[in-house]
Amino acid sequence: MQQKERKQFPNGFLWGASSSAFQIEGGWQEGNKGMTVADFNSFKRSDKQADSKVASDFYHHWEEDIELMKELGLKAYRFSISWARIIPDGDGEVNEEGLAFYHKVINRLIERGITPLVTLYHFDLPYALVEKYNGWESRECVDAFERYAKICFKEFGDKVKYWMVHNEQNLMIRVNERMNIYETDDYLADKMRAQMDYHMFLAHARAVLACHKMVVDGKVGPAISSTCTYPLTNKPEDVWSAKMNDWFKTNYCLDMYYHGEYPGYYMRYLKERDIVPHMEEGDKDILKSAKMDFIGVNYYRTLCSSYLPADEKHPMGSRVYRGNEVDFDQYGYCRDEKNENLQASEYGAQIDPMGLRIVLNEYYQRYHLPMIIAENGLGMADTLTEDERVHDEYRIAYLKEHIKVCQLVIEDGVELFGYCPWSVIDLLSSHQGFKKRYGFVYVNRDDHDVKDLRRIKKDSFYWYQNVIKTNGEQLEQLETER
Ligand code: BG6
Repeated sequence: MQQKERKQFPNGFLWGASSSAFQIEGGWQEGNKGMTVADFNSFKRSDKQADSKVASDFYHHWEEDIELMKELGLKAYRFSISWARIIPDGDGEVNEEGLAFYHKVINRLIERGITPLVTLYHFDLPYALVEKYNGWESRECVDAFERYAKICFKEFGDKVKYWMVHNEQNLMIRVNERMNIYETDDYLADKMRAQMDYHMFLAHARAVLACHKMVVDGKVGPAISSTCTYPLTNKPEDVWSAKMNDWFKTNYCLDMYYHGEYPGYYMRYLKERDIVPHMEEGDKDILKSAKMDFIGVNYYRTLCSSYLPADEKHPMGSRVYRGNEVDFDQYGYCRDEKNENLQASEYGAQIDPMGLRIVLNEYYQRYHLPMIIAENGLGMADTLTEDERVHDEYRIAYLKEHIKVCQLVIEDGVELFGYCPWSVIDLLSSHQGFKKRYGFVYVNRDDHDVKDLRRIKKDSFYWYQNVIKTNGEQLEQLETER
């Protein structure tokens, strides 16, 4: 029998890894950096878990960390610039020390043959913008973001060609504390959220236009949190609810980036809920003319849903969060359910490589744009053995299955140009401290003691090194890695 020919990863495929500023840098006040919303939120939990003050201390370990990236064989490194390091109060004076820090990092990456992929905004709005304007609720914030983006394009645009504007706008907008929404009335909170979301779309569009104007050969796009939802049963209402869950949590956002207008079902929701945001003349042209070049896809898990009818107490479109802060139930549409067919990680993520195949195919068929996996990984409470090893075979198993899917989607005809697992080294979880780890490199600290922050390569480091070396051909763990 003839052996089936497998499509290989293309030459130049960007094998990478990811991080974000507030989760990796530390040095939260050093070099004149201003406080951010992410700092503020992490400090609220300081008594129970690590905060962003030191994080992984990349601010002081950047040289050592880039050497580790080189040793790992990374072709690309996705990281974010902290807006408040560049402009401490968000829209005032530019901080030369902040610019110098990122110049050093970017130059070193390039010297080591690692392509920088830069995100402009990863959950860390300068806190001063909240104090001045309530952040994204105001158009002033859109102007401030455009100015910040232009400063980055001007400074780094000759060296950085791949730009991601907002990280997970579609997820961030659902989490009140990330948006700094403290309104207790659900309706007013949703109204504020809708206005903030709209302003972020406008900011995204203005940044895309500026990038195309200012960065020669620049490629720009979003990094979205992907959603793949299965219906709890094959009842038509449940099937509809699963679609709605995807559309409300991710697809409306991609459509807005791509078409520059809300899809019909979303406009209907905004109208029914009476929260249509204020839009100004000229916005439409900006939104419609800003064309993204690629889509960054963050993928961790899949969801499941059933139909949830609206009732007298719960108006159509109103939302309630159960269990965690990102997966809402929406009356008249969908209710979040557990998928009994999937295993969940110790932190509750329903692990599902097949879902990655579904979302990548779906997005490619809808938009025909190249895609890069900007995040994918498994958060676990890794332990260090006495002989200084971290046997994270569960992470290897997770990543291996997802890389196999990448190969399959390339065979499916999807233009996938890179894979950047989360995260390059251990870093602060977005809201669960330091115990939950994702990295290829163990950082020796815990939630309450920063210890010596020593870097220790995990088994997954050696495994991924070999994956990269063989361009994805060799996915099995070698004996020597155990
Ligand atoms: C993504 C974020 O949603 O998930 C990252 O872009 C985050 O910032 C990652 O760290 C993993 O989530 P968590 O909550 O485990 O850190």
